[in-house]
Amino acid sequence: MADMALRELRKTYHRKGRPDVTAVRGIDLEVPSGELLGLLGPSGCGKSTTLRMIAGLEEVTGGDIVVGGKSMVGLPPQRRNIGVAFENYALYPPLTVRENLAFGLSARGADKREVARRVEDMARRIELTDLLDAKPGGLSSGQKQRVALARALVRRPDVLLLDEPLSHLDAAQRDTTRRELKRLQRDLGYTTILVTHDQEEAISLADRIAVMKDGVIQQIGTPDEIYDRPANLFVADFVGEPVINLLPGRVDGGAVRLSEAARVPLPEGVRVPDGREVVVGVRPEDVLLAAETEADLRGAVVVYEPLLELGLATLRLEGVDKTIVAQTAPEVRLDADEAVTLRFDPHRTHVFDAETGEAIR
Ligand SMILES: Nc1ncnc2c1ncn2[C@@H]1O[C@H](COP(=O)(O)OP(=O)(O)OP(=O)(O)O)[C@@H](O)[C@H]1O
Ligand SMILES: [Mg+2]
Repeated sequence: MADMALRELRKTYHRKGRPDVTAVRGIDLEVPSGELLGLLGPSGCGKSTTLRMIAGLEEVTGGDIVVGGKSMVGLPPQRRNIGVAFENYALYPPLTVRENLAFGLSARGADKREVARRVEDMARRIELTDLLDAKPGGLSSGQKQRVALARALVRRPDVLLLDEPLSHLDAAQRDTTRRELKRLQRDLGYTTILVTHDQEEAISLADRIAVMKDGVIQQIGTPDEIYDRPANLFVADFVGEPVINLLPGRVDGGAVRLSEAARVPLPEGVRVPDGREVVVGVRPEDVLLAAETEADLRGAVVVYEPLLELGLATLRLEGVDKTIVAQTAPEVRLDADEAVTLRFDPHRTHVFDAETGEAIR
């Protein structure tokens, strides 16, 4: 297996008679051998473009792609030993599923019996055994997606590139395929980039996540680092379900004033000069109901939703325009309009510069 690096990778699409589109704006990324890196970002941020450049399906505008110490730029796709499963499947319609899976292997001159064995083994793992003699035309989109995934895996490539590999599967199949994918990736040690806009998928599968926006990587880190220490407002807001509470305010004597009536202490260890405009970020599970003597804020319940193992309370804070969401323990029951006193967990409160959006630490 090989490690991979992207160095200042850029892509601008030139289109006749229409403005250029710069999809990727200088990406730097190191993926150590055997790592599964999740590339997470909203639609149109340049994820597929990045993968297509690595696979050799799209020319780079600038920068380098290095796999196992060797530059891939300029090499045709078939000389890169990169396994790909893209959204559009790219299966060969006249061939059966079995032949589709075997295609890349046979073309490389692998032993026929060995090819058959590896195809059957992979089909079993991805639950395709019953479909081996079917043609792609008759398959559902979920089935085609699993064939595309199996085909990428069966080649035992240096690097595996997966673009939304589970998006067409139903919920039950997504769970099993996700688990099998993780196990295979780990057992076989593939260096993998998995593109997704689904944070749950990225968090459950990835060793590290790169969060991307407008062709720029915003933060790279383990799922915990991304969740616990977001580098900026975009990452804080994009990752987390239910979403983080973001409240604008102004720093005043070691605290952030959210309104005339409401102020919260700055997080421990954070020093910000008075007068600075900031945004306070606190996740619903870090909004704590507290006895009046220990509380920093007063509010009232707008809506309370009891869920299976917890509750979610939408709260109005005194003098603050925006409502916030608090996650509550299962034994807590709140009524609409009930008065509450609360505080934000000081170790898990984030402060961002209102102008730049960058985290202040
Ligand atoms: N062949 C192309 N020609 C011109 N513009 C393109 C082309 N392919 C992609 N783009 C543009 O480049 C930008 C990035 O597209 P890309 O497909 O890489 O995004 P993405 O992150 O994969 O989005 P999604 O989650 O919707 O798949 C978008 O603005 C898109 O419209
Ligand atoms: Mg895409």
